[in-house]
Amino acid sequence: MAQKIIFDTDPGIDDAMAILFALASPEIEVVGLTTVFGNVHTDLATRNALRLLEFAGRADIPVAHGAAKPLQIDFDEPAAFVHGENGLGEVYLPEPTTAPDPRPAAQFIVDMVMQHPGEITLAPVGPLTNIALALLLEPRIVERVAGVVLMGGAGAVNGNVNPAAEANIWHDPHAADRVFTAGWPITMLGLDVTMAVQMDDAYLAELRSSRTGEFIYDISRFYLEFHRQVHGVYACHTHDPSVIAYLIDPTLYTVEYGPIRVITEGIAMGMTLWDRRGEWHRPNPWTGRRSVGVCTGVDAERVLALYRERITGG
Ligand code: RIB
Ligand code: CA
Repeated sequence: MAQKIIFDTDPGIDDAMAILFALASPEIEVVGLTTVFGNVHTDLATRNALRLLEFAGRADIPVAHGAAKPLQIDFDEPAAFVHGENGLGEVYLPEPTTAPDPRPAAQFIVDMVMQHPGEITLAPVGPLTNIALALLLEPRIVERVAGVVLMGGAGAVNGNVNPAAEANIWHDPHAADRVFTAGWPITMLGLDVTMAVQMDDAYLAELRSSRTGEFIYDISRFYLEFHRQVHGVYACHTHDPSVIAYLIDPTLYTVEYGPIRVITEGIAMGMTLWDRRGEWHRPNPWTGRRSVGVCTGVDAERVLALYRERITGG
């Protein structure tokens, strides 16, 4: 049976790449997209989510409009230099003809999880604000989800906003700390593994044999330019699609365990500080917290092969 997921997203080029991957994968049933600020403002994230579903012929999937700002800090600004002014690499899909679900994202998450106990995996690939708000609305979702599998954070490597912080966590560290310490089963696909899988220009060109792959190639032009300028490679990191790859086949990844706390202020704000020791001479804020599964290794070739197979259909 396909795994039911709610994909919480700020589309976003790699978000779009992940959504199209999920829709092309029979192991996954997307029961809803929920939107959040991050790569773009939330209004645009919602319109992009609707656009992408219409492009994929899946306008039957609900989109719930989410938080427009972090829990306790200000929203810095959208990442137009990474994803383009429109969030999709300056490739313009038509205005959506469909409308969002009337419920706010957090309420949508609560309703779906409570209606389908044990069945729904939350798959956030943006700031964790909607997930934290859902926890505040209905704490019992902790026992009712199948799990949380997220893109964000950095286990044993530097961040990508600064040495401490990865972008999704940095945007709302207070929400992230709530999500990491809620006590539910949680797996983190952070920069340790998402930057280890690179889609280069030749790989992306191979995707063009399908209509979906042609679109992914087109939106990747802007993204590759960003990676060239900032990372010195003409290839893009595989951030958000990694969550879908993990859900389809967890054997693609090596997972290690330990509790995570998120630094919420100061020079290291947004850092996912992971306890890999577990043995201390006195209790600390990590003690007694449920372990997070942190992906530390990945079979990059197999992830790339899986993605190509799903996008090209062959
Ligand atoms: O750091 C990578 C993450 O930040 C991805 O989710 C990307 O879409 C951006 O939101
Ligand atoms: Ca994202």
